[in-house]
Amino acid sequence: MRSLISILAGAGLASAWTELHHAPFMNKNIDAIVVPGTYTSHMHTFFGSDAITNVLPTSAELQAGCYTGDNPNDLSVYYTTFTEVPIFRFSTYYTNSFATAAIPQDLAMISGNASATSQSAADHPYNDLEWFCEGSEERETDIAKMPTSTCDQHLQVNLRFPQCVNPDDHSEYDFADESETCPEGMVAIPQLRYRVLYDTKSVAPEGWSGVAPFQLSCSDTPGDGYCFHGDFINGWFEDAAENMLINGGGGYDDGQFIAGEHGDSAIEASCTAVDRDPEGGASDYYTSLEMMADGGELVDPVESESAPEPSTTVETTTPVATPAPATTDTVSTPTQTSSPAPSRTSSRRPSGTASTGYGNKETCTSTTKRSIGQKSKTEAATRALKQALDALDALDALED
Ligand SMILES: *[C@@H]1O[C@H](CO)[C@@H](O)[C@H](O)[C@H]1NC(C)=O
Repeated sequence: MRSLISILAGAGLASAWTELHHAPFMNKNIDAIVVPGTYTSHMHTFFGSDAITNVLPTSAELQAGCYTGDNPNDLSVYYTTFTEVPIFRFSTYYTNSFATAAIPQDLAMISGNASATSQSAADHPYNDLEWFCEGSEERETDIAKMPTSTCDQHLQVNLRFPQCVNPDDHSEYDFADESETCPEGMVAIPQLRYRVLYDTKSVAPEGWSGVAPFQLSCSDTPGDGYCFHGDFINGWFEDAAENMLINGGGGYDDGQFIAGEHGDSAIEASCTAVDRDPEGGASDYYTSLEMMADGGELVDPVESESAPEPSTTVETTTPVATPAPATTDTVSTPTQTSSPAPSRTSSRRPSGTASTGYGNKETCTSTTKRSIGQKSKTEAATRALKQALDALDALDALED
């Protein structure tokens, strides 16, 4: 909560806001906004509505999906840069400070620069991309670089999205300036911010000193956080999006729950979020690298427009290095193998004192080991993997 308070204080605004938590349900080398119809994207981790393939969905399509968040009025899909480090918690915040319009249906936005390899390239004046240790005031000189010493709690990254959009052409969006003025022709909407907490202790229990031993899937340099970016496709039901604009609604922690026709309190979905295109693309990081190098040729891209036909000619994307536990239910539920580690597993750590509130807690939990297990190939990754599995075994033992 501390970081949120500082966000609000920093902005000098007394405005309504809401906080949501979303469990990850898929890692995939797709980006329906940037490279629609292909499997040439670097790897992303997906949260929210599962009605997402490599074809850009409408809000209505997202709203027909299953969500992994905690607000049944929000069927947005959120995705961000993949890391091998398990995500402890993924939160989204919406602040309606000077907004005059609801987030429009079918809005799709990107924030951050996936090609950035320096602070200046990462810097958008107002995206506030910063990496730091949760609970710490210390920042690197480059705030978009990862901290150079071990985090007591979790490694954290924050990223703000543009809050101005052209109502007649949603592909035009931008940040407001410091006087809270949108570019001409644009209206202000509630501002989205991502906050990701990484469970760095599970993979680096000894900590680090110097360059952080973590590498983003969009970077080839450990410790560089510059290319971190986020994608958002609006799936808020229209009535709830209006409510967000007007007043936020009831309470969630200190924030406000955005109520709507689909619910007036935080509730997990009873369905299970799945990969809607299990035969396409890769859910394994190293396979995704090969596919990027080959121009996404390992599998046939799905036809755009319609839902993908199950393909019989598709090559397997299961990585060679997948350990035994990963194979148990791949036939009946192929998507399970692509699910990243759910945050719940780490919530029992001593530092995990914050409340949960994820959707689909139970249904996602069983995938933990095999999803982490898919990522190894380099020696370092294998070592990290073993440590992570040991940690999970310890957690399982606690649970039993
Ligand atoms: C994104 O990063 C690339 C590579 O450093 C840079 O050339 C480009 O100008 C950056 N884009 C923006 C909008 O800053």
